Amino acid sequence: MKIKSITLFMLFAITTMNAQTKSHLDKTKTTEERIDLLMKQMTLEEKVGQMNQYNGFWEVTGPAPKGGTAELKYEHLKKGWVGSMLTVRGVEQVRAVQKIAVEQTRLGIPLIIGFDVIHGYKTLSPIPLAEAASWDLEAIKKSAQVAASEASASGINWTFGPMVDISRDARWGRVMEGAGEDPFLGSKIAEARVKGFQGDKREDLLKDNTIAACAKHFAAYGFAESGKEYNTVDIGNATLYNTVLPPFKAAKDAGVRTFMNSFNILNGIPATGNSFLQRDILKGKWNFDGFVISDWASIREMINHGFAQDGKEASQKAVDAGSDMDMESYLYVNELVSLVNEGKVDIKKVDDAVRRILRVKFELGLFDDPFKYCDKKREKEVIGSKANNDAVLDMARKSIVLLKNERKLLPLKKSGQKIALIGSLANDKTSPLGSWRIASDDNTAVSVLEGMQQYKGNQLVFEKGADLTVGKTTFVDELVFNTTDKSGFEAAKNIAKTADVVVMVLGEHGFQSGEGRSRTSLDLPGVQQELLEEIYKVNPNIVLVLNNGRPLALPWASEKIPAIVEAWHLGTQSGNAIAQVLYGDYNPSGKLPMSFPRNIGQCPIYYNFHNTGRPTNADKNVFWSHYTDVEKTPQFPFGFGLSYTSFEYKNLSLDKSSYKKEEKVKVSVELTNSGDFDGKEVVQLYIRDVAASLSRPVKELKGFELVELKKGETKLVTFTLSNDELGFYDNDGNYLVEPGTFKVMVGGNSDIGLESIFELK
Ligand code: BGC
Repeated sequence: MKIKSITLFMLFAITTMNAQTKSHLDKTKTTEERIDLLMKQMTLEEKVGQMNQYNGFWEVTGPAPKGGTAELKYEHLKKGWVGSMLTVRGVEQVRAVQKIAVEQTRLGIPLIIGFDVIHGYKTLSPIPLAEAASWDLEAIKKSAQVAASEASASGINWTFGPMVDISRDARWGRVMEGAGEDPFLGSKIAEARVKGFQGDKREDLLKDNTIAACAKHFAAYGFAESGKEYNTVDIGNATLYNTVLPPFKAAKDAGVRTFMNSFNILNGIPATGNSFLQRDILKGKWNFDGFVISDWASIREMINHGFAQDGKEASQKAVDAGSDMDMESYLYVNELVSLVNEGKVDIKKVDDAVRRILRVKFELGLFDDPFKYCDKKREKEVIGSKANNDAVLDMARKSIVLLKNERKLLPLKKSGQKIALIGSLANDKTSPLGSWRIASDDNTAVSVLEGMQQYKGNQLVFEKGADLTVGKTTFVDELVFNTTDKSGFEAAKNIAKTADVVVMVLGEHGFQSGEGRSRTSLDLPGVQQELLEEIYKVNPNIVLVLNNGRPLALPWASEKIPAIVEAWHLGTQSGNAIAQVLYGDYNPSGKLPMSFPRNIGQCPIYYNFHNTGRPTNADKNVFWSHYTDVEKTPQFPFGFGLSYTSFEYKNLSLDKSSYKKEEKVKVSVELTNSGDFDGKEVVQLYIRDVAASLSRPVKELKGFELVELKKGETKLVTFTLSNDELGFYDNDGNYLVEPGTFKVMVGGNSDIGLESIFELK
């Protein structure tokens, strides 16, 4: 009898617990109600578990790990102390790890699976800086869609992208990951990428081919002093509000569901422990209701920054400041429970963080089907598909920038020519994949050699001339460059001597830019400059194709070499895209998203600088703002890029000469394709607020349009300026639109243009 009642009691207890634990799975309830129902059942340990993210730590489909951190992580996973994992990929692996979370933990809360899907997953698009050079928002959105479709087909449901850090310093290796130097272009691209990854509206996250996005690195990481990775950032509020924050705000407005904070200190306070950034601005003023993930171990790194005594204090400061999830510091999981129990961290802050994390999991539909991204059939069909390869090829062509084209060397004639192709990068099938390419395989890019071999009408001969690197090239190791071996120079000179045109593919290795890859020179590494000069001596008919992840400073080449094509690191279809541009099957239309300096001493260099008190040499002496040894202008300005055709701008006009604040300013210009090819032009509109309560930049991009014109065709291009474009942030973050004179400039790059003025009353 006694035994029977105990059994009955247990049965009753289990049924009640099940009823309780399942209530949040009721889809008829709102997300907030479902979160409430789940939160009520969670212990403090389980809540803290949601705030803990671990990197993948063992081959999940193999035996359970024994010993070390892997075993510890495994135990934590089974206890429900892990809310997210990163870098686990592939349907089989993700399913196995998700199964543990869903089936072995008390509450069965699914994991959110993060991955650095930065410019594609397996089928790679150009590096993000290159994509920005297309100024083609639709294409950029499409590229993020392709990335999302492949990643989601591989079990992943959250990308650590887009990176929206504005940077003006080519020394910083991570410029390859962003959209360049301009906050307006950067904001538009941030929006396009977020919508590409996530869809246009929040409900789109429920689909199985979208993933949650992450705007990073919040904030100001791109302003690392002297371009040195992870370095101190010390900037004023004018720069913070007007330059750094706008792309983050645009990402938020586009619906981005997560933010990642950054490694740097900002004006003395680490971004990870920065309540002003995360609580006052992001979650306060901007009302962001997704969650913030730390950067890799950035909570622990606050000890190195001298901002926290130990891990406990670091955790306390990070939670207080609004860092919701800990990536790989192992600190929240170890310290937060006692911090709450000791009254040092308010449980409300933990609850708030957990709500945010659960919200995104609900929005992704993970509670409804934790295995929704784990369809083997879809994985097979989607990853590496023909459609995805076509899409990244299109993006790659659009990303190419023609920097110089004298003597009509380009486009190349399709027959009867002898073409000498030189440079080890021309035959490299790995480097074009770029730096963030964890899910791709070495040797999978189409090389320039392979791309050019498609054109059979010419005689194509190849010599590498010299190796670029020595030894292994990997994501984690320092590269070693070939600075001595020139034994291939002679063979290269021999093929160049008798060629009609020499195509030289030179530049940086794909692993030379990206995280941890700052440089103090922007030249061609190794013996490439010497090779270029040697070849030039025997045949100056050179088309220089540049591969690089940042602006380079190449004064000699810019002066001597007749044709220069900026081809970045263009991803899987690199060689096909380059060959199609070289042969004129695609007329290049890219424009630089960052200024290219004349030498590294000019860095940071950017078009939207503030005027000095002495901008010109009016008195013909040295006392003006300049350098004594080089011009102060860049080699190639922001927004610059040529086409095989030419464009003429005429008749810039405004609909009025003076406007009331609430009125819209209509600007129009006539654009004519005056050359011999059909083509596309990025028409750019800049303004200058001539006198304001805060000094405003000499130029600010406020509109652009990609216009396609047949040869001989003319189109009227119109822009509308409203308060959104005419104002600026003061040092307290208030947005001001001030009356006064405004200059309007419209042209094909930031350096030239037709000008007009208007008054704002
Ligand atoms: C980078 C992040 C990245 C994270 C996870 C960090 O080192 O700064 O951008 O998302 O690692 O891989």
